[in-house]
Amino acid sequence: MNFIYKLPPNERRLIFSKVLGFSYPETLKLEILIKNNLFEKSLFKNGLSLKTIYNKKRIEQIAKRRLAGKPLQYILKEIEFLNLRLKMKPGVFIPRMETEYMIECFLKDIKINRYRNLQILDICSGSGAIALSLAKHFGQLKHRENNELFNYKIFGFENSRKAINLSNRNKKLLNLDNVKFVKYNFPKALKKILDKRISRIIYQSDCIISNPPYIPDNFQAVDLIDKEVLNYEPHKALFAGPDGCDLAKSIIYQASLGKCKILYIECYESAVNILVDFAKKKVPVKFKTIQIVKDLAQKNRFLVCKK
Ligand SMILES: C[S@@+](CC[C@H](N)C(=O)[O-])C[C@H]1O[C@@H](n2cnc3c(N)ncnc32)[C@H](O)[C@@H]1O
Repeated sequence: MNFIYKLPPNERRLIFSKVLGFSYPETLKLEILIKNNLFEKSLFKNGLSLKTIYNKKRIEQIAKRRLAGKPLQYILKEIEFLNLRLKMKPGVFIPRMETEYMIECFLKDIKINRYRNLQILDICSGSGAIALSLAKHFGQLKHRENNELFNYKIFGFENSRKAINLSNRNKKLLNLDNVKFVKYNFPKALKKILDKRISRIIYQSDCIISNPPYIPDNFQAVDLIDKEVLNYEPHKALFAGPDGCDLAKSIIYQASLGKCKILYIECYESAVNILVDFAKKKVPVKFKTIQIVKDLAQKNRFLVCKK
């Protein structure tokens, strides 16, 4: 059992919490019990002997798979993301902390008293992490403020069937309304004519938020990516052309055209300047402001474009 100490403490505690049903703070006690070889004894004392054997095996199996390199989120099939617990599965991109931070900034920026009907579009919605956390936030806000006049609608565009199925499952489990996921392959070509239904959603959205694939295809960058990410996460969720900007440019271009007042888009650190230049010079309708925001690690992480 002690080999699980090769895992970082936060991962170990997540495993305890999931397998044994303890809250995350309670798992600290388990850490001490295991370290002192008291794990089985203490559970036995509580009349849980059979469960102990089963749990011990299960914890060991999980730890072994994790030590072999598989991301914990795919093993536990669950993640915590902002205000949500989401189901996760291999083949779908694992949402990141940087995106949580982008959502927090986005929410600080939105003043709902400016809107009666707020429509938000999440492009490249993956597991639904962004769209669902916004749906939860606005649902709670509407309820708390008892604001009958305020209505919101959230759309997610995503081209992976696996991801769409997972986001719909998450939506159902969380019992969230007013959010709709649409299977759509967002074009990389800038001037592509979009079909009516899609263009209506894009051009009628008040805000667009996106964490698209943004890693450059070239090998030098590939070498810099964590092997775990490369081996386990879907490559369609990661790579986006020679400079990593193919989809981001197209999203900025389309966002400039419609009603969208605020665009938040996550990007690769070294691509920020390319995108700022694009948003300034290559869009059909100019933005009033374009701002670069750093993540908590002080890396340039997302753009905020406003009209
Ligand atoms: C970096 S992941 C982000 C997922 C999610 N927004 C998040 O933050 O966890 C990018 C997502 O874009 C999807 N995707 C890639 N190319 C796309 C395209 N052309 N149109 C729509 N979705 C696309 C991928 O399947 C993946 O789920």
